[in-house]
Amino acid sequence: MLPLEDERTQAYAEVFTRVLENLRRLLATDNDVLLFTSSMTGAFEGALQNLLSSGDGVLVVSNGAFGERWAAMAEAYGLKVTAVRHEWGHPWDLERIAAAASDTPGLRVAVGVHCETSTGMVNDIRGFAAATAPLVTVVDSASGAGACELRTDQWGIDVVVGGCQKALMTPPGLAFTSISERAWALHRQARLPRFYFDWTEAREALQAEVPRTPWTPAISLINQLDVALRQIHEEGMDNVLDRHVRLGRLARAGVHGLGLRLFSPDEDRHAAVTAVKLPADIDGDAFVNLLLERYGIQLTGSQGPLQGTVLRLGHCGFVDAFDVLTALAAIELGLAELGHTVAPGSGVAAAMQVLR
Ligand SMILES: Cc1ncc(COP(=O)(O)O)c(C=O)c1O
Repeated sequence: MLPLEDERTQAYAEVFTRVLENLRRLLATDNDVLLFTSSMTGAFEGALQNLLSSGDGVLVVSNGAFGERWAAMAEAYGLKVTAVRHEWGHPWDLERIAAAASDTPGLRVAVGVHCETSTGMVNDIRGFAAATAPLVTVVDSASGAGACELRTDQWGIDVVVGGCQKALMTPPGLAFTSISERAWALHRQARLPRFYFDWTEAREALQAEVPRTPWTPAISLINQLDVALRQIHEEGMDNVLDRHVRLGRLARAGVHGLGLRLFSPDEDRHAAVTAVKLPADIDGDAFVNLLLERYGIQLTGSQGPLQGTVLRLGHCGFVDAFDVLTALAAIELGLAELGHTVAPGSGVAAAMQVLR
């Protein structure tokens, strides 16, 4: 149990500033990092509000549900959206992105999703930042940060937005944003209405004698995020990323062993979520419920055009090999229960080969 210190105290400020410092280390950045009490979508809206004015152009690169959500969000704010769409689960075409970035008048910001959680695809953020170099780049790293390589400063990413409930192993309710000098400069010209997520307010509160947030923070979540981030840095960022790569390998080998096909590409960088194509006669949502009710194993389906056809196995955050093996065993039992012929232990055995 940790005490719930008042947010105006030095004791709270110590935890809060340590969290910000550890987030900076996680994102490999020296930029400012701001923390908000909100799910990530709040901080995503905040990024649009703080960078843009009505009618400004935004380039959105999409290959899944969350890319599409960014396009919808920008449209809701009266921004001119140029969407560079790709088939879901397919890699980005950097030449097409670079052409759109240089040929479309009025663009100010380019948005891309790091790990497209809806498909498990981890996008080439380094290439994206290079292809859109004249624009302020915003990266949605909701499920990427802490699971997949992200070198904010080295790759030249202006704004990274993420949250605490995926690889950062904390219950939902906190979101963070890192902001480069170039993004601060655009922020000073931005005229969209903003209040709760106003970056200037948040930075001023950080610079107060006792650093804090402008509004009441979710103190208990910040305490939990502090513990999680310290755990991550004790394990070491390189080790954490390696562990995710290895879990991804186990999951993909297990899926092949079960005789199923992958939806996410069979490559090491797709290390946070493995998406699986289900046999045509299985309804994905019903299958997720079956695994949960029968075996207490929580996997997820997908959304949009993939709804009901794809099963997602998340392996980011507080996950080890035995969690993946257990999930594979449950999938095998679920398939067998629905009348599919699966050799006993075939998914687990294939994963064990990788593990050994
Ligand atoms: C890539 C991505 N973007 C955005 C979101 C939305 O985040 P939240 O539900 O915390 O608002 C998620 C959540 O799953 C996500 O995975």
